[in-house]
Amino acid sequence: MIAVMAHDQPYGHAMDSYSLSAAAKINLYLEVVGDRPDGYHELVMVMQSVGLADRVTVRRTNVPTIRLRCDHPQVPTDATNLAYRAAALLQSRFPQAAQQQGGIEITIEKNIPVGAGLAGGSVNAAATLVGLDLLWQLGLTQIELQTLAAELGSDIPFCIAGGTAIATGRGEQIDTLHGLDGLYAVLAKSPTLSVSTPWAYKAYRQAFADTYRDVKTAGKTRQERLHSSPMMTAISQQDGPAIGRHLHNDLEKVVLPAHPDVAAVRAVLEAAGGLGTLMSGSGPTLFTLTNSRAEAETIAQQMRSRYAESELGLWVAPFLPSSLQLVEG
Ligand code: C5P
Repeated sequence: MIAVMAHDQPYGHAMDSYSLSAAAKINLYLEVVGDRPDGYHELVMVMQSVGLADRVTVRRTNVPTIRLRCDHPQVPTDATNLAYRAAALLQSRFPQAAQQQGGIEITIEKNIPVGAGLAGGSVNAAATLVGLDLLWQLGLTQIELQTLAAELGSDIPFCIAGGTAIATGRGEQIDTLHGLDGLYAVLAKSPTLSVSTPWAYKAYRQAFADTYRDVKTAGKTRQERLHSSPMMTAISQQDGPAIGRHLHNDLEKVVLPAHPDVAAVRAVLEAAGGLGTLMSGSGPTLFTLTNSRAEAETIAQQMRSRYAESELGLWVAPFLPSSLQLVEG
């Protein structure tokens, strides 16, 4: 679940703070199956952690409150922040530990763009759960952490596990796959545009509700279909070009027409010569896959000369085997 540096002793004597690197995710596949009785959408997805990461530090304080610090102007530091809610959830589930341990300070150093379809807020919450589990020495299992994570948001259980995984249900049911090595994503995002996930799903429902299937029966069928699909064969064979050919995201059908500028960047990125191009999650971040860092850098450079730095955020991000890494105790 979490890669720990050799010099750290997370379950030894209690430390006063833990810092975690918390990596973004992209969706290699996202299929909307239909409406669930709980108001969410039934999804079949393939998720992948990539090397564009925030740093999340949780610290014990003497004041019995939760304090969140983040210097990114678009990130709220109150109880609407998912990381804040993660800390509040642990306080309410483990009142004795909360009382003994005092207050919590969470510091988020933001590198993952906000409202981007890269699960930045979700991975901050996942890092807070894991960091507090270490700080308070709760000894929670991965399943226990993922169950708590699912209460906070659909993408957060994946962010606890990270790597390469199939996500089903509303996205919270995770089936970890053998990791993909040696692949890179060139990520491209307009610095000014963010897309609201609730908006994207609502727009999808408005446009495609007539294609929705009964999720009770179709959810399983779709999962089985994914398991025997060319995408899964490509993943199990670590076949980058085939993965690139079978990238798919249903939400592109509503987000791209609503944002023609994103569609235009997608076309340029696709023409730049990678293995395949897709929008991640509810967007607007686009990515193109490559088999090597050198190819990824070449494409990023090409995009940089086409678009000024201020017009398009560009990152070269390797595929990672996990999303959370303890970087400092
Ligand atoms: O679970 P999370 O809070 O991340 O979801 C944000 C919003 O995205 C939900 O309130 C819902 O509108 C939409 N969503 C959905 N179906 C999913 C996941 C998210 O409709 N499986």
